[in-house]
Amino acid sequence: MDYPSSFILLLSLFIISIYVFVISGRRNSRLPPGPYPFPVIGNLFQLSNKPHRSLAALSKCYGPLMSLKLGCKTTIVVSSPDVAKELFHTNDLLFSNRSIPDTARLMDHHKISIAWLPAGEQWRRLRKITREFLFSRQCLDGTQHIRMEKVQELLDHVSQCCINEKAVNIGAAAFTTSINSLSNLIFSKDLCQYVSTESQEFKDAIWGVMEIRGKPNLVDFFPILKPFDPQGLTRLGQVYANKLFGIFDEIIDQRLETRTRSSSSSNEAVKSTKIDVLDMLLNLIDLNDESKFSRNDLRHLLVDLFVAGTETISTTLEWAMTELIRNPKKTERARLEITKLMQGSSKLVQEKDISQLPYLQAIIKETLRLYPPTPFLLPHEAIHDVEVRGYFVPKNARILCNVWAIGRDPNIWSGPEIFMPERFLDVEIDYRGQNFELIPFGSGRRMCPGLNVAHRMLHLMLGSLIQKFDWKLEGNMRVEDMDMEEKFGLTCPRNVPLMAVPIKL
Ligand code: HEM
Repeated sequence: MDYPSSFILLLSLFIISIYVFVISGRRNSRLPPGPYPFPVIGNLFQLSNKPHRSLAALSKCYGPLMSLKLGCKTTIVVSSPDVAKELFHTNDLLFSNRSIPDTARLMDHHKISIAWLPAGEQWRRLRKITREFLFSRQCLDGTQHIRMEKVQELLDHVSQCCINEKAVNIGAAAFTTSINSLSNLIFSKDLCQYVSTESQEFKDAIWGVMEIRGKPNLVDFFPILKPFDPQGLTRLGQVYANKLFGIFDEIIDQRLETRTRSSSSSNEAVKSTKIDVLDMLLNLIDLNDESKFSRNDLRHLLVDLFVAGTETISTTLEWAMTELIRNPKKTERARLEITKLMQGSSKLVQEKDISQLPYLQAIIKETLRLYPPTPFLLPHEAIHDVEVRGYFVPKNARILCNVWAIGRDPNIWSGPEIFMPERFLDVEIDYRGQNFELIPFGSGRRMCPGLNVAHRMLHLMLGSLIQKFDWKLEGNMRVEDMDMEEKFGLTCPRNVPLMAVPIKL
């Protein structure tokens, strides 16, 4: 090729690439402001392995209502209480659908799941069931002895570590307590143990599901890759899901057998066994037609409850203990508040005591402000095109509410990076969805249904751990040397597990 024709060819290629680059990356000018998207990948490269931090930094440039293109998905990021209120209060219904990650589609989970269904009739029915049988104040009051018993077992485990002069893996121990509290509430049985030599099948399956759900998945950004399962997440997810469903099926089958035996038995003692949540849910299946609540609905509901309601609690507790170990004066103040209320007796903190422990409550709020376990809530989705603050939010846009960024915004909180429970003592700020500067459980109709049980568990566990023990770091590590990094996944636990040595008081 001679020089002029190769020059013309190169020039044409250059012009075409610029055209493709500009057209495919072009922003809709009515979308909320945001960084310029690259063709095909959009803004993916602007996310680090801690996307809550990357998006918090970006929102400082582009504002509290920001838009990005993550792969081919338009994503709206909310980073202020005002905008959060506009979406989840003023326009609650319009943003009440879920943007479904591919791993939630395994076994058609998203078509049955309370966490992923659109906010329609089927979802409302499931919310009603959880309220009526699990989370109403009446249900929770009636089951507090279960949580007390499980917290006592946690303390027994800690005492054993104390005797053996061993450090406690706080997150792992709290995870066991959370699983067993929930499993006893529902099935009246433990599903895991503290000692790792015993069977951990259930714990491993829950961990597995959470791990694959928490991994950034290329398929969510480029659905065209779905048939290739490039990270093997679908294959792995199927293995864990089979294991989990297998365990639930076995429990359900055993219960059905026991019920059949007891209904045909003439022995009154056998007949009058205690009814638990599983019995009530099985009764619901018996009474209604399959289309309303079936055995399959029950299995998927159980998956949601255990996935949503265990690591969220243990992660929060691990961060609370981390901060208390770093701040011994605050621990002492909380302990004093408890011993004063108990009037020096050795009685454990109970649920009825929580309202009289304002400093303990402030510690939990402060922990959830700094370390919300789900930093973006669960992804919401716009039901149809909506205008917000003069900007265009298109139908099916994914909505991420960066509660981590809101919790650390210096315009809202003084000394936002400092752990200072005292800030909550003289103000009426709660995490029940009304104060948008603190919404670790979300707000509006998709708000966490397990809030009340989480509230009770967190106060009981933390209160008892500091009431009965003092704590120091393993190997006499100095608190200044603690690694305070978090790990991003389905929840945001510590990067390095907290290993703390208990000292009996
Ligand atoms: C510290 C503990 C917990 C935190 C911080 C937490 C936080 C959240 C958040 C942020 C959401 C999504 C809200 C939204 O997208 O607007 C959620 C949803 C949910 N949570 Fe929790 N949660 C906790 C404990 C629990 C517990 C103990 C359970 C049940 C045993 C539970 C069950 C659920 C369920 C089923 C959903 C889905 C609700 C729906 O989509 O309608 N959570 N949670």
